[in-house]
Amino acid sequence: MNNNTLVETIARLIKSPKGILAMDESLNTCNRRFSDLGVSQTEEKRREYRELLITTPSLEKYISGCILFDETIRQSTLKGKSFTSVLTEKGIEIGIKVDQGLEDYIGHPAEKITNGLEGLERRLSEYKKLGATFAKWRAVFKIGEKTPSDDCIRENAEFLARYALLCQTEDIVPIVEPEVLMEGAHSQEKCYEVTARSLDAVFSELKKLDVFMPGVILKTNMVLAGKDAKEKSSPEEVAKMTLKCLTESVPRDIGGIVFLSGGQSDEDATKNLNAMHNSGPLPWPLTFSYARAIQNQALKYWAENPADIKGAQDLLINAARNNSEASIGKYKK
Ligand code: G3H
Repeated sequence: MNNNTLVETIARLIKSPKGILAMDESLNTCNRRFSDLGVSQTEEKRREYRELLITTPSLEKYISGCILFDETIRQSTLKGKSFTSVLTEKGIEIGIKVDQGLEDYIGHPAEKITNGLEGLERRLSEYKKLGATFAKWRAVFKIGEKTPSDDCIRENAEFLARYALLCQTEDIVPIVEPEVLMEGAHSQEKCYEVTARSLDAVFSELKKLDVFMPGVILKTNMVLAGKDAKEKSSPEEVAKMTLKCLTESVPRDIGGIVFLSGGQSDEDATKNLNAMHNSGPLPWPLTFSYARAIQNQALKYWAENPADIKGAQDLLINAARNNSEASIGKYKK
């Protein structure tokens, strides 16, 4: 394990004013999004769409890294150039989702555990050969009357810590992602409480395994009221509660923090990030790692106008630029 390599990779990933494009939707998720828009769910269509994303002109101005899925890291453009070479030539770091998805958490109805530790060492070393410099593992917590349980939080946190350690052993930067879902009618205070509990558990497990903190990126949800809540939190409230929660639960020496968009509208995800950067100096680098909030418009346009690649790429770069501006508090609607 080379700590300098980890720190150098993170410095490139969180280089202001850039953020990360998450394009690591699993086959099921990608197919579901395609199906909703009437796009056929084939490997070739997924390849075509991902080619559109990574070949967007000037993507590297706003995007420092792309998180890929196992299928995508092995794909090439129509002309035969590997996706990994396209990204490397643009100076964009290659990331890879290495968890293998969610499973029911036995004995805990409605809760999920994230799998993927089996064979992870072997997969990491293969991804490293393919050019990956960072990885991602996502655990999810759903807020319900009795969920998430302490058991579910603890076990997912243990898995995240073991994954992080294995990544660092391969000199791959781990993004640890404990996501508290937006689904539900819960209050912002409830989201705060659950986010704090999950972050405390994750950092306690990382500490137990002596994971090198400056070589870790946290990917987290913003602290928001649930999607179906009567009262929506304003960007200022989101910024205030999110920063309070992160300040109390995240070690100061972490490499960086990035946000998922989690089903917020594109505009909300951008405005909320912008508000955080207008709240005074922050103790850690803080930027975005959005999938939907960057891809939504481009994907919808491409589904309706498959021949107009440039039109879709314009929408993608526009969303990336908006979030880049938000990552330095300079976004204007
Ligand atoms: O793990 C989740 C993705 O990387 C981020 O997706 O921005 O659509 O929530 P999202």
